[in-house]
Amino acid sequence: MARGKFITVEGIEGTGKSTNIAFLVSLIEDEGIPVIRTREPGGTPMAEKIREILLQKDQEALPEIAESLLFFASRSLHLRNKIMPALDSGHWVVCDRFTDASRAYQGSGRGLGAERIEQLANWVQDGLEPDLTLLLDAPAEIGMQRTAQRGNADRMDSEELSFYRQVRKAYLALAEKHPQRIAVLDASKSLADVQSAIAARMKLLFDEKLDKRDTVNS
Ligand code: TMP
Repeated sequence: MARGKFITVEGIEGTGKSTNIAFLVSLIEDEGIPVIRTREPGGTPMAEKIREILLQKDQEALPEIAESLLFFASRSLHLRNKIMPALDSGHWVVCDRFTDASRAYQGSGRGLGAERIEQLANWVQDGLEPDLTLLLDAPAEIGMQRTAQRGNADRMDSEELSFYRQVRKAYLALAEKHPQRIAVLDASKSLADVQSAIAARMKLLFDEKLDKRDTVNS
């Protein structure tokens, strides 16, 4: 059985990830491909408990190293207990955030540096990277306006604007470094425009899958 594709969706707060992930999953389902939707931090019962620790406000100080290790502990559980088994059984996996978030938020936003994040990524991922990452990009001001309207800010939603500007910059730098894997979508456009850009990018991935099937069958 062919291994499933691993697709991640990234972006700062307020770039419309949830709505667009639902759309993305429906596109994959329409192709008749089995797919699961999941998220980080979280995705398994124990990883969801780590998510609570990471997002809860007003608790003891969480130093950036501890924060990074908790994100990767959650990721390790998620990979072993959910993502890898799903991919191995031919499911496509759509994940709301993955290691690019650690690169952008902890590596750059918190200032830990790229090297330490890559060391943890090597340890935890054993070479696995997404087949495709959709980066929903918008200025931090727009993202913050949208999250303020939602209310209920968690620990990670409560930083200064300058933090999210830095995180956005780091995401765009990652996209420049990995243009084949990371597709940047302008999330300040209308929902219809963003979704047609997602559909166009996904068509490339679906066609790639068809090409492979043709090769196998011929
Ligand atoms: P969200 O999934 O509801 O957006 O919340 C997750 C928050 O955690 C978000 O602010 C991004 C942040 N995050 C990191 O800082 N590093 C990570 O590795 C991941 C997965 C998320």
